[in-house]
Amino acid sequence: MFNLILFGPPGSGKGTQSEKLIAKYGLKHLSTGDLLRYEINLQTPLGKEAQSFMDKGQLVPDEVVIGMISSALDANPNAKGFLFDGFPRTSAQANALDQLLELKKAPIVVMLALDVSEEELIKRLLKRGETSGRSDDNNENVIRARIVEYKNKTAMVADYYRKFDKVVMVKGEGTVNEIFDRLSEEIDKRA
Ligand code: AP5
Ligand code: MG
Repeated sequence: MFNLILFGPPGSGKGTQSEKLIAKYGLKHLSTGDLLRYEINLQTPLGKEAQSFMDKGQLVPDEVVIGMISSALDANPNAKGFLFDGFPRTSAQANALDQLLELKKAPIVVMLALDVSEEELIKRLLKRGETSGRSDDNNENVIRARIVEYKNKTAMVADYYRKFDKVVMVKGEGTVNEIFDRLSEEIDKRA
């Protein structure tokens, strides 16, 4: 099993690159943001709870997202591997993921971390906000709040994987294809 984390701040291109990587490597894409938006669209109790945090640019409680990931792993017993996008985002989530993957004897192989300047992140998200309908994209204050959450609670998750020498920084600016080639090169070294 090949399990990888695509890491990076809001707007760094995790979703964009995930689509291309899962097609190339046959991995199962697990994006907690997408799973949460699915619940919101269905207006489930979980979705309603999550929405109040997401609208403010805050992280959803750990128990909620860990439960979703645990179910998604169980629902895909035959996956060749998982691409985690937007998860783990806190130390507690990283610990929980390690425990879940230990049960499968299939640890994280590598964390690919997209490096993008803050100015570029805000530019990309404001641009998408013009059309996406995502309530957390069309307000610069909410975008900034997401970046603050990232710095305070998420950036440190990379330090956790650094201890195991699993982090590779990848330049996340340039064309989508250039970045895809950089990511593919790192995966090919390890696959
Ligand atoms: P989530 O959905 O994960 O959003 P995010 O990480 O804040 O950021 P995005 O998904 O918007 O960015 P991305 O890195 O995927 O970039 P993308 O490819 O879309 O989370 C949303 C919320 O859900 C969180 O705030 C939180 O409340 C909650 N949540 C989710 N997971 C959670 C967790 N684990 N724990 C707790 N709460 C959680 O690209 C962005 C834009 O840039 C697009 O328009 C794209 O077209 C464009 N773009 C991409 N690449 C390029 C390029 N190379 N050049 C120019 N433009 C580009
Ligand atoms: Mg995304």
